[in-house]
Amino acid sequence: MATNNSIEKSIYGTTADGKPVEQYTLTNANGMEVKVITFGGIITSLSVPDRTGKMNNIVLGFDKLADYETRSPYFGALIGRYGNRIANAKFSLGGKDYQLAVNDGINALHGGKKGFDKQVWAAKAIKDGATVGLELSYTSPDGEEGYPGNLATTVTYTLTSTNELRIDYRATTDQLTVVNLTNHTYFNLAGNGAGSIANHIAQINADRYTPVDANLIPTGELAPVEGTPFDFRSPKLVNAGLRSSFPQIVSGRGYDHDFVINRETENDLEFAAQIYDPSSGRKVEVWTTEPSMQFYTGNFLDGTLVGSSGSLYRQGDGFCLETQHYPDSPNQSDFPTTELKPGDTYQTTTVYRFLTD
Ligand code: GLA
Repeated sequence: MATNNSIEKSIYGTTADGKPVEQYTLTNANGMEVKVITFGGIITSLSVPDRTGKMNNIVLGFDKLADYETRSPYFGALIGRYGNRIANAKFSLGGKDYQLAVNDGINALHGGKKGFDKQVWAAKAIKDGATVGLELSYTSPDGEEGYPGNLATTVTYTLTSTNELRIDYRATTDQLTVVNLTNHTYFNLAGNGAGSIANHIAQINADRYTPVDANLIPTGELAPVEGTPFDFRSPKLVNAGLRSSFPQIVSGRGYDHDFVINRETENDLEFAAQIYDPSSGRKVEVWTTEPSMQFYTGNFLDGTLVGSSGSLYRQGDGFCLETQHYPDSPNQSDFPTTELKPGDTYQTTTVYRFLTD
């Protein structure tokens, strides 16, 4: 076991268009280890102890850059400029209409055809007492994927001495625009490639969620979770709701929904969720400054991808906890705003805290 924290850089590969990609390995004094590549800011591996102290990588991923470039369902990636869907890939802002890249049926998803998940980010290692971090920066040019304004973005991953992975997102713009950044890591607390996450136990601090239409666009309603498979206010087996015939579960093919976090403060970190795997004893808690979190149960994994574990990923083999603003906010005036003005700073934080029972 490491006695000190460290951050090390290695060469990871070269993109199809010839850009070099580095991998940074962050380790804390407990031996928890996070690997991040500069392509997409992707978390390729995250090793945490189980209840016996055994380390295992608990995130889904690939072992080759080419797979991340060409076929990844956003494994581990930073998502921008806009996480989740924008209906019909269109919105109006400041009296102007914007047409975005269409990449999900009729909608825009996760920033477009070449979103932040497919850009090479500039990296800077940070060592500060008990924590190690990696600061990633990318400036998205005005008009990229249809979004207005030059958007200067910085995302910092910090690994603390108490087994927390903290993600700080910041962005500034030179024109009125919309921003909604997140991370799309797929977790399996039993281990990458360990099979279904249906036996995990989830708790989500949300009284309401955003029901969606057939295209997975919110209807605008904030529906109560009470009496539905979306009620995770007390810890519940994921499988119980995953197999339900509740119409929202059927249209999402499982959980692929945004939960409105019960907030006591407007801007502080609030407890959003906790997921627990009884087999390994691993737990992840999510704390966020964001108003909501998408709980996605890997419904589109269909056995066509071989992952870094060497085995196939099938439906339900991982889950995502995407902290964010509500989907389609630019078209829904009753939702909390995702607008960013020149002179203001977009700033959000999410913490994934790893524990054992
Ligand atoms: C998000 C979406 C899902 C799906 C995945 C990527 O979580 O909500 O519908 O598109 O990303 O496969």
